[in-house]
Amino acid sequence: MTTADPAGRPATWRELTDRAADALRAAGIETAEMEARWLMEEVSGLDRLELTVEADAVAPSRTAPGLDALVARRAAGEPLQYVLGHWDFHGLDLAVDPRVLIPRPETEVVAEVAISELERIGARRGRSDAWSGALTTFTVADLGTGSGALALALAAELPDAAVWATDRSEAALAIARANLAGSGQPAVRVRLGAGWWFEALPRELRGELRLVVSNPPYVAESEHAELPPEVRDHEPYDALVSGPSGLESIAVIVEQAPEWLEPEGVLVLELAPHQADTARSLAAAAGFAHTEIRKDLSGRERVLVARRSPGG
Ligand SMILES: C[S@@+](CC[C@H](N)C(=O)[O-])C[C@H]1O[C@@H](n2cnc3c(N)ncnc32)[C@H](O)[C@@H]1O
Repeated sequence: MTTADPAGRPATWRELTDRAADALRAAGIETAEMEARWLMEEVSGLDRLELTVEADAVAPSRTAPGLDALVARRAAGEPLQYVLGHWDFHGLDLAVDPRVLIPRPETEVVAEVAISELERIGARRGRSDAWSGALTTFTVADLGTGSGALALALAAELPDAAVWATDRSEAALAIARANLAGSGQPAVRVRLGAGWWFEALPRELRGELRLVVSNPPYVAESEHAELPPEVRDHEPYDALVSGPSGLESIAVIVEQAPEWLEPEGVLVLELAPHQADTARSLAAAAGFAHTEIRKDLSGRERVLVARRSPGG
């Protein structure tokens, strides 16, 4: 189905949006109306208010083919975020495409936990410091940065932080680089590193990191086939799947983190709820003095916090 008028008459913004919603609904998409509005905003360059005010004005003739192309991709099952080409994470508008995982709401909780852990050990928080970026007083690392979501959220909120963002995927780092370029001043304090977990970092950072944050792959190989098709068929396999057990990446990061952290340093890791107990045990075995699990917005155990020193 196309959004063009069957009789070839010029169509209004409202008619095109309604037809897009019909096509998405016919493809089984539950949030068809909302998604049709988002796709129309993308194609038109108009925001929601402008589209409401102009609803009965005739749209330019190029609008229907542009909208049809996006609707066709979405109706074929591609995630909305990839079709739009960008998505919001923690107030940042990030480019996303199939080279990177789509940043998730539960990862915003990970960002908040990481920022609050740093505040707890003395970091300043705030987005509007005119002098930020001139000097950094501590260093943090986001391992497996993908789109750069966690690294950029930390850089934006913590004006004194130098942030390393690493990934073993060069394709993901290309997107992270684009997002640094589009994020203005805080990105000046973010550096990218390619490689396998801590191997992507310069050796002189050993023992110097105040915080390591990561949302590593944590799906088991056998679970991949059971993921929703939108995830399974479109998001990068290596961003989702860790290995036979799902715990491989978590185990490596937990085991190696103490050697890279300052004595007061903290590890903050996203995980699946069923991995929480094992991850805590792994952290205790690696020498972390204090471990706890935080919950996401739906109350599921999602974030490991492991501190090197008991009070710190
Ligand atoms: C679940 S995604 C997280 C992406 C992003 N941090 C986020 O939260 O949206 C995991 C990321 O880890 C990267 N990755 C997987 N294995 C890795 C490894 N051994 N070393 C470094 N990065 C790895 C993947 O390429 C992917 O970008």
